[in-house]
Amino acid sequence: MYREMSITEFSGDLLNQLNKGAFLIVKSKEKLNVMTISCGSIGFTWMKPTFTIMVRGSRYTYELMEESENYTVSFPFSGQLKNELAVCGTMSGRNIDKIKECRFSLKEGNLANTFILDECEFHLECKIIYKHFIDKTKLDSKIKENIYANEDYHVLYFGEIVSAYRKDD
Ligand SMILES: Cc1cc2nc3c(=O)[nH]c(=O)nc-3n(C[C@H](O)[C@H](O)[C@H](O)COP(=O)(O)O)c2cc1C
Repeated sequence: MYREMSITEFSGDLLNQLNKGAFLIVKSKEKLNVMTISCGSIGFTWMKPTFTIMVRGSRYTYELMEESENYTVSFPFSGQLKNELAVCGTMSGRNIDKIKECRFSLKEGNLANTFILDECEFHLECKIIYKHFIDKTKLDSKIKENIYANEDYHVLYFGEIVSAYRKDD
């Protein structure tokens, strides 16, 4: 059983886990992919609770994000799925089916075309309300040098948190 939660209830646990990795799940048409993320911002944007994620233009996930209206993020709050975080953070969905490889159980989300990983305790369902490639002319020079030496810039996706829920203990 899952319980809906408000942004102020879960933001501490979310930030703690994000550091270690969470699973971004996106589906476009018949293609579904899972990718490990650790970049993200939680807050209020345009008076809506939002979770903003960063996906580099080189990722297979980026292709699916560009064709999608929604995405989900599943968090393994108990520190489980370390191996799966490594697999989904190093292998590309262009080459393997990560759902099969990690034996994930997909569960349908509430938003159209969304799925969550039932092995995780906590899930966000987000609707994309704004997106933009990093503008290198406005970026701190050290970050540009250290993070984007290969010019593989991130796209920022602002996701309105439409639903956030945690498994009851
Ligand atoms: C802990 C961890 C965190 C990561 N965070 C991000 C991230 O926030 N954004 C990103 O674009 N890539 C991130 N990556 C890299 C992608 O997960 C990785 O390149 C993945 O293989 C891309 O998969 P895809 O080609 O199926 O999209 C992270 C990797 C790890 C291991």
